[in-house]
Order: sequence, then structure tokens, then C-alpha cells
Amino acid sequence: MTRAVVPGSFDPVTLGHRDVIGRATTFADDVVVAVAHNSAKAYLFDLETRVALLHEAVADLDVRVDVVEGLLADYCRDAGAHLIVKGVRGGADVEHETAMATVNRRLAGVETVMLVADGPVAHISSTIVKDVARHGGDVSGLVPPGVVAALAAAFADGATGTRPPGGIR
Ligand code: PNS
Repeated sequence: MTRAVVPGSFDPVTLGHRDVIGRATTFADDVVVAVAHNSAKAYLFDLETRVALLHEAVADLDVRVDVVEGLLADYCRDAGAHLIVKGVRGGADVEHETAMATVNRRLAGVETVMLVADGPVAHISSTIVKDVARHGGDVSGLVPPGVVAALAAAFADGATGTRPPGGIR
């Protein structure tokens, strides 16, 4: 039985994340999508909203959604996870993920599998999505429908999306 963890901030979940999560289900028996919660980080969406949007985005997939408090390595050890699955869009992602993979393997003996982002979604990042939405651009080809609505609400009335640590509700 192979248990895989797909971790991320998911601020917000994108079609790129969804693709990686779906692909993880093709080679792992049990897939847990783990939403990182770092109280020192300024998210656009608070934890509850990120989790709710993620649940909606993966409703048709056979995966669980959970929250990571603290170190991902500790979470993986406690959850009995064999693999961490991350999507990579290019060299910068590979470099960043390589460092994290090495730390997580040394801390918890958990291996990281990097999935090369699929062409049609390889340009998508949560940061770009938020920037497009902040300036009133169309994000419907980048994120699931529920996220389109959530972004519209977050940036309604000219809001900038600058939020204190923890994010908005
Ligand atoms: O979607 P992101 O922001 O690229 O996800 C990064 C994430 C959440 C996977 C990473 O920050 C993480 O693993 N956070 C949990 C805390 C932790 O274990 N930090 C050390 C990683 S080596």
C-alpha cells in the first residue's frame, strides 16, 4: 500500500494543482492532499477557505484533504506516508523542490516524487492567478469555478488582497 502526500499552500488551489493531485492517484493507493498552515505567512485566503476550495476542486477524485501544522516531515512520519508528490513547472521549481526533498528525506526518510507539469497547465501558479484576479483579469482557465468566485469576492471593490498573517475569511 503506497500512501502519498501532496502538500501545498493552495492559496488558492489551481488547475495545475488539480492535475498533479489526479496524477498522484494513478500510482498511489492512498492520496492525502495536505494544506500547509503557517501562522507567520500572509495568505490571501484563510485556512478554512483554502480547505473548502480544495475539497470542492477535488470532489470527483478519490483523495483525502488534511491540514499540516508544523513540519511536513513530521506529518509524513505520523501519517505513515511513503511519498511526497510535487508538481514542477521548470528549473526554478526543481531547484526549490530539490532542497525541500533532501530535507524531508533526511528528517523522515520520506521520498519526494516530482511530476513534470502538464503543458496546458504548466504556466499556472497561485501567485500569477492572484495577480491576474487582483487586476480584474479572467482566471476561469486557470482555477476551478469555485475559486473564480472566491477571487472575485476577495478583490471586490478594489481590494488589494493585502492581508494580515492568517488570511481572510
Ligand atoms: O504551495 P507551496 O507554497 O509551494 O507549498 C510549500 C509547502 C507547503 C509544501 C512547504 O512550504 C512545506 O512543506 N511547508 C510545511 C513546513 C515544512 O515542513 N517546512 C520545511 C520544508 S523542507
